Amino acid sequence: MTNSKQLRLLLENKAWAKGKILDDPEYFERLVGIQHPEFLWIGCSDSRVPANEITGTEPGEIFVHRNIANMVVHTDLNLLSVLQYAVEYLEVKHVIVCGHYGCGGVKAAMNHHSLGIINKWLRNIKDVYRIHREEIMALPTEEAQTNRLVELNVKEQVMHLAETSIIQKAWKHHQRPHIHGWVYDLHDGLLRQIFDMPPNTPIDPIYQFDNL
Ligand code: CO
Repeated sequence: MTNSKQLRLLLENKAWAKGKILDDPEYFERLVGIQHPEFLWIGCSDSRVPANEITGTEPGEIFVHRNIANMVVHTDLNLLSVLQYAVEYLEVKHVIVCGHYGCGGVKAAMNHHSLGIINKWLRNIKDVYRIHREEIMALPTEEAQTNRLVELNVKEQVMHLAETSIIQKAWKHHQRPHIHGWVYDLHDGLLRQIFDMPPNTPIDPIYQFDNL
């Protein structure tokens, strides 16, 4: 192997594991036994928005799914499997959709370059733009427009979650989870609450299932 940059990660891992055990000799053994996180995090793949680090949480506390621009696409088998597992087996109490200002996926969706297969993914963000075009176009700068689309996208993805049979069933029978839409600001490291759907929030009737 000519490039040894990845070795740094392995060395850091050794140091981290050693530090954990020095602090608390039972640390890993305790985590092996159970996984019972209260939160499912659906975030952007962006390397600057790591779920645990920005929320001060430890391994075992957040079940995480990340994709480009934190999308909830109703045909995405990966997302839906994570959601079903988190809601039905881990019994999470909260689902957080977390976007971030300056999101590259959202920016890419707002321009007209073809990027290959990723077009298919960005298409879902373009749909959100189309729904909210008037509000977005009224903003004075490209940055303001992008950031508003980031917020509106988070809101739409929260609503997409509520439209799934998985969430509707859990709301009906267990009155959980609470779904939250947050946006992270790369400039100050702070999370902002954008939108919120407590259990049994009414949804558009066309998406309601009556036999769950
Ligand atoms: Co992003």
